[in-house]
Amino acid sequence: MAKTKLMLHDFYRMKQAGEKICWLTSYDYPTAQFAEAAGMDMILVGDSLGMCVYGYAGTVPVTMDQCIVHCEAVRRGAPNTFVIGDMPFLSYQVSVEDAVRNAGRFLKEAGMDAIKLEGGVRVARQIEAITNAGIVVIGHIGLTPQSSGQLGGHKAQGRTADSAQLVVEDALAVEQAGAKMLLVEAVPPEVTAYIAQTLSIPVLSIGAGPRCDGQLLIVSDLIGQFQAFTPKFVKKYCNVAQVITNAMKAYCDDVRADKFPGEEHCYRMLEGEHDKFAARMKK
Ligand code: KIV
Repeated sequence: MAKTKLMLHDFYRMKQAGEKICWLTSYDYPTAQFAEAAGMDMILVGDSLGMCVYGYAGTVPVTMDQCIVHCEAVRRGAPNTFVIGDMPFLSYQVSVEDAVRNAGRFLKEAGMDAIKLEGGVRVARQIEAITNAGIVVIGHIGLTPQSSGQLGGHKAQGRTADSAQLVVEDALAVEQAGAKMLLVEAVPPEVTAYIAQTLSIPVLSIGAGPRCDGQLLIVSDLIGQFQAFTPKFVKKYCNVAQVITNAMKAYCDDVRADKFPGEEHCYRMLEGEHDKFAARMKK
């Protein structure tokens, strides 16, 4: 039976009922199929694809066109899941017009249900304009990787009272501007808990503790595929890097030992055709 697609009102009901929202990134068709089969509530086609798929050092080089291609693939793999496109660096910071046009591309070209963008107070105008265009916006505050240079690297935010207050001000600005959900990244649980209690929109965490309305993880971390580094907040549920490397090694071993392909992997000639072929080759 096809999975029932959850929509925005379902996430608001879940917040009210204290039911946790499960959210995972995905960048391609097969992984999106797995996520949907696993019953994921939402999928993010994150600009983390820059690191997880393309091998960039960060998310800054990722382009709108790359994001759209991956969103299209994920949409095909997970037709019955709420899928969110992530706005890459410089697709919304330069002007409000750019922000609305690029946000719209995620819906028109890739069938996304919503978009996510990074920042609080400083992108409130963009959130308001995109929302006024009828698009569901998800805010992203705390550690915002696209501006990690300004944050002094990929560092947890809100660890002092002053910094926590800035995170809360960002959260309030995002809700006030019209965002329909908020993601908080790498912030202490007590700060996230305050935000989740204060805001009426669902508040989700990645590395921001358990006391909120749901969790996000990066699929490449969860399955043990991304190897460059592992953030503190990641729980690895399996080690596909090991599984895949072992399978590839076993394949090389078989080829070198002439054990692959076996009889069962070969197409046989049709009855009587081999004799005809052999006779012809003798001539
Ligand atoms: O791109 C992404 O996957 C993200 C997460 C780091 C939250 O934005």
